[in-house]
Amino acid sequence: MQADLRAAARFFSSVESVAPVASLTHLHWVNASADQVSTVTPLLLDAGFAGTVVVARASQQQAMGAFSALNCALHDHPSAGQAAGDVLLEAPQGREAAQLAIAQIQAAMVECEPHTIWVFGDKESGIQSLAKRYVGASTALSKGHLRLVRIPACAPLVEATNKKGRAPFAFPTEANAFHTFTWDGLTLATRPGVFSWRHADAASTLLLKHLLAENLSGQWLDWGCGCGLLGAALLRQFPDLRVVMSDDHYRAAVCTQQTLDANALQARAQVICEDGVGPRIGALAFDGVVTNPPFHRGVRLDRGVAQRFLRDAQSILKPGGVIWLVGNRHLDYGAALQRDFSQVSCVESNAQFHIWRAQRR
Ligand SMILES: C[S@@+](CC[C@H](N)C(=O)[O-])C[C@H]1O[C@@H](n2cnc3c(N)ncnc32)[C@H](O)[C@@H]1O
Repeated sequence: MQADLRAAARFFSSVESVAPVASLTHLHWVNASADQVSTVTPLLLDAGFAGTVVVARASQQQAMGAFSALNCALHDHPSAGQAAGDVLLEAPQGREAAQLAIAQIQAAMVECEPHTIWVFGDKESGIQSLAKRYVGASTALSKGHLRLVRIPACAPLVEATNKKGRAPFAFPTEANAFHTFTWDGLTLATRPGVFSWRHADAASTLLLKHLLAENLSGQWLDWGCGCGLLGAALLRQFPDLRVVMSDDHYRAAVCTQQTLDANALQARAQVICEDGVGPRIGALAFDGVVTNPPFHRGVRLDRGVAQRFLRDAQSILKPGGVIWLVGNRHLDYGAALQRDFSQVSCVESNAQFHIWRAQRR
């Protein structure tokens, strides 16, 4: 297994080229940043780690193509990977998402004793409070921003010490379980770890207030669709509209499909799991794009993904095609839009958000 881990470390140093699935049979790798993985791997090897590495998050470049499909499936169906030995997991963002991943791994472990679930992540990711929530868990490594926590594989949650008196998290661990909420009569299907999974995001609903008052037609792209709020609301409002909904997060794409099904909107929609404008989105042409773009990578602010998308969006918009975008005020997408689009207007500006409309050059 150590050889496999070394192979995985090598794999991560060349993630730009997609690894053949066959070489990953026993390794279900995390979508972790390469520097974190290269720091953690030798430490685990020295500690005699032998086990399975489970996909924490499916997204970004290294989870493309078949590799992505394999890893994504393993994330939601870890039993398909039969987690044998120890498990290494990159801390998913959010308390519930982390606990759900751990519950899934625990359910998938061939045997618990004497194994360990190792969780690593940025110190800002909530990983240290995760350590406090499991009986017998401890922080094994603190290095710069990186934290590595060991959780005994059979560890139950420390329910008694829940100071805020919150009921212990009890989201079902089955892959086909969804949380639902409603917004304006639409049913949204979500899961922990998907953006704004408990309720509709305020920025997105503000964007919808403007878009639903327009007269939209043709084919639109809901880029970074999350659980499908924007695209589903447009499909319901405009009976002739077709919407492609894309997200690089596999679980988000699954939730979007479920949202469409729950509202009987699937006939005019297509869901694509892809990073930015990849080969599938890139082969299409759109009359319009709607997006509440991502501005975090992990726990850090990162405008790069949105800026790359804005540059690439030119190639998928038809002549005269438009983009509608909402962003937190401090992100100020104005400059990027001015650079890449014409007729840029800030349709609404309030204390929190900017709504932008711009046209293809
Ligand atoms: C701010 S959320 C908006 C979600 C949804 N549209 C809404 O309004 O609730 C941004 C979404 O972009 C997705 N995302 C992040 N990076 C991406 C990428 N490189 N390609 C496609 N989607 C991405 C995230 O997974 C997330 O679902």
